[in-house]
Amino acid sequence: MDSNKRPDNMVRITTKELADKFIEEQIALVRRQVGSRKVLLALSGGVDSSVVAALLIRAIGQQLVCVHVNHGLMRKGESEQVVDVFRRQLGANLIYVDAVDRFLDKLAGVSDPEQKRKIIGGEFIRVFEEEARKLTDVEFLAQGTIYPDIVESVGVKAHHNVGGLPPDLHFELVEPVKLLFKDEVRVIGAALGLPDSMVNRQPFPGPGLGVRCTGAITRDRLAALRESDAILREEFDRAGLTKSVWQFFTIVPDYRSTGVRDSKRVFDWPVIIRAVNTRDAMTATVPEIDWAVLKKITDRILSEVPGVCRVLYDLSPKGPATIEWE
Ligand code: XMP
Repeated sequence: MDSNKRPDNMVRITTKELADKFIEEQIALVRRQVGSRKVLLALSGGVDSSVVAALLIRAIGQQLVCVHVNHGLMRKGESEQVVDVFRRQLGANLIYVDAVDRFLDKLAGVSDPEQKRKIIGGEFIRVFEEEARKLTDVEFLAQGTIYPDIVESVGVKAHHNVGGLPPDLHFELVEPVKLLFKDEVRVIGAALGLPDSMVNRQPFPGPGLGVRCTGAITRDRLAALRESDAILREEFDRAGLTKSVWQFFTIVPDYRSTGVRDSKRVFDWPVIIRAVNTRDAMTATVPEIDWAVLKKITDRILSEVPGVCRVLYDLSPKGPATIEWE
C-alpha cells in the first residue's frame, strides 16, 4: 500500500474523541519508528509544525529537538509565543536561533520579490543545517507535512521548506500528520492542548513579513509593518472579526507620500490594510468592514506607528490582484 495515499475509508477527524484515538495511534507508531533515538524538527510556530511538535513531545519527550529560527520576519510576539508555549509550558527541548541580523543583512538592498523569497528560503535551510550538524546524535527529521502538500493542492504554496537539506545528513522522515487535512490537524492541535491562537491561526507565508515589506526591506519599514499588523490583529479581534475573515494583514510599500505633522511637511510611508475571504486561496473577495472599525485602526496606526502618514484599505479581489502584494 502507498503510505502517501489517504485510504478511501479513512474517517475524517472532526471530534476530540477521534483526535485522541489518532494521537494514541501515532504515539505508538512514532515510538516504534524511533525507539530511543533523537528526532529533529524545524518549529516555525505555524499550525502544522506546532501540532507535530506537541504530538512528538507526548510520544518521545526530550528525544525531540525543536529548532526555532527567528528570521526577523515574524509577526509581533510570534517567536516569543513559540518559546513560551513549547519551552515553558510543554517543557520541549527547544533551540532558539536568533538569526535576525543574518537574514536582514542578506536581504539588504534586494528588491526583486522572487530573489527575496529565494534568499529567505535558502538562508533558512542553511541556518537549520548548521544547527543539525551541531547535533551529532540525531537520526530523524520530523516534518509537518499534511495531505494537501502531498497531493500538491493548488493555491496555497508549499511551506515545508526543510526539504532542501543536503542528503549527507541522512535523516529518516517522521511525518505523523501527512495523511490529514488542515481542519483535522487543527482538531488534533486542540486535543493536544495547544492555544487557540496557534491552532486556528490564519495562513502566514513562509517568507513572513518579508513579502509585505515590499521592495528592499529596511528595518524601520519592517518595524512599521510589524506594529501596524499587530494593531490590525488586535482591533479585528476586538471587533469579533478574527474568525470570520480568512486572512488579514498590513503591507508597507517602499514609497513615501506627503503628509503634515505638527504644521510641518513630512514624507512618510502609507500602510495598506489587506483583508480577504476565500475557500481555496485561488480566488478571494474583500469583506465589507465596518467603517468605525477601519477608522479606529487608522487612528491607532497614525498615532502609534512612527513614519506612517496614510492608511489605505485594499478593495481589490483576487483576481486580478493576488492576496499578497509580492
Ligand atoms: P497569493 O498572494 O498568491 O496567496 O494570492 C495565496 C495564499 O498563499 C500565501 N502565500 C505564500 N505562502 N509562501 C507561502 O508559504 C509564499 O511565498 C507565499 N506567497 C503567498 C498567501 O499568504 C495566501 O494565503
